[in-house]
Amino acid sequence: RAVAIVKEFEEKCGTHEVKLKQVADAMTVEMHAGLASEGGSKLKMLISYVDNLPTGDEEGVFYALDLGGTNFRVLRVQLGGKTGGIVHQEFAEASIPPALMCGSSDDLFDYIAEKLAAFVDEEEQRFHQPADRQRELGFTFSFPVMQTSINTGTIIRWTKGFSIDDAVGQDVVSELTKALKRKGVEMRVAALVNDTIGTLAGGRYTNNDVAVAVILGTGTNAAYIERAQAIPKWHGPLPKSGEMVINMEWGNFRSSHLPLTEYDIALDAESLNPSEQIFEKITSGMYLGEILRRVLVRMAEEASFFGDDVPPKLKIPFVLRTPDMSAIHHDSSSDLRVVGAKLKDILEISNTSLKTRKVVIELCNIVATRGARLAAAGILGVLKKMGRDTPREGGGKTVIAMDGGLYEHYSEYRECLEKTLSELLGEETASSIVVEHSNDGSGIGAALLAASHSLYLDEKL
Ligand code: BG6
Ligand code: GLC
Repeated sequence: RAVAIVKEFEEKCGTHEVKLKQVADAMTVEMHAGLASEGGSKLKMLISYVDNLPTGDEEGVFYALDLGGTNFRVLRVQLGGKTGGIVHQEFAEASIPPALMCGSSDDLFDYIAEKLAAFVDEEEQRFHQPADRQRELGFTFSFPVMQTSINTGTIIRWTKGFSIDDAVGQDVVSELTKALKRKGVEMRVAALVNDTIGTLAGGRYTNNDVAVAVILGTGTNAAYIERAQAIPKWHGPLPKSGEMVINMEWGNFRSSHLPLTEYDIALDAESLNPSEQIFEKITSGMYLGEILRRVLVRMAEEASFFGDDVPPKLKIPFVLRTPDMSAIHHDSSSDLRVVGAKLKDILEISNTSLKTRKVVIELCNIVATRGARLAAAGILGVLKKMGRDTPREGGGKTVIAMDGGLYEHYSEYRECLEKTLSELLGEETASSIVVEHSNDGSGIGAALLAASHSLYLDEKL
């Protein structure tokens, strides 16, 4: 029975190349639809108001806030202009208390403002350097936002386990600015960016060929550079650069070609955001461990996979986190002792046989492979839309800046994604596409965009 459940799951998760190409094509079609009109597609294709990426000329001290991944970060970056590069950077990291993820807007923004206030004090004392001009900040806010300028925009909805009803529809920057006032911090928010946009900007600072950014972390998303004239829903003035960076919000992509199983459907129905973020729910870090747990529950219930009883811990939603799944998946010891230890420590299942451990690894492989291959298909869809799915004239490269814990730490996932992307592109094109890890680039990217949208750069107090 256990074997049958695994087999059925594997079949349902199938991502044959033909299917991946259908997914990529569907992604391209939805991109067109999302650019054509507001609400035209599940893909929001949000306009970022970033029409110029960092050039390397950015100069001065800027702050950044980065909210929306596993950790919340505050940064201070000193930019040295053309020849200086990043002269200095400091950051502090904290996790967001779970209660704040589902509380009130004021509570969340007060917490952020407090952390920033403490950081600013500490840094300025350390460097004996009070601000010589109005402090400015780039805010990486990794949720869907409908922007109306580079530093205004309303929260469309929450994703990734956040759910703060009274913040939906509010302007993110004014919520933050009000909290900063309450906490006595003098700071102007110069740029509001998604983490994909920050990663693209940060990647571009060091590499001119960066044209796409992909986050594979708690959630997943992509941004890329679009021709402004190819955005029918953009009615503003044509940017000088002729370009506009688009935050796709591809986590919300959905297509009949996506291989969904009963476990995904149940996970979605019981989630904080049913029917939303379907692509994210089968590819990203917040959910992979949970999918695995759901399959194991069925195996325990219907095939007595862990003995006569269903282990009570196994019934707790989200108890099996993706980093643990990754540790299980990567266990290469002959007796699979990491698998045994994880099952015991997390699920209180002792004395598992080697055979049982092997099956658990097989399940990890099925879940991770489907996610990684679909992410590769998503990237192919973006490259197609950009006309970069064939070799470029003159041999130019297209660099994809990648970030996120899943990509960074889950090697099986990362390797499968990169291999699949090469297969889908074919040898010749694959050699012109470079995937580059842009470590924590989004905070720096936000600081760079704050610099290029500074109001005070030339002004000394
Ligand atoms: C970080 C970015 O490097 O990656 C964040 O600075 C982003 O803004 C994050 O959200 C995604 O990673 P994770 O794995 O923490 O969700
Ligand atoms: C979620 C958010 C998106 C973000 C992504 C990666 O999909 O909606 O804005 O970019 O997670 O952090």
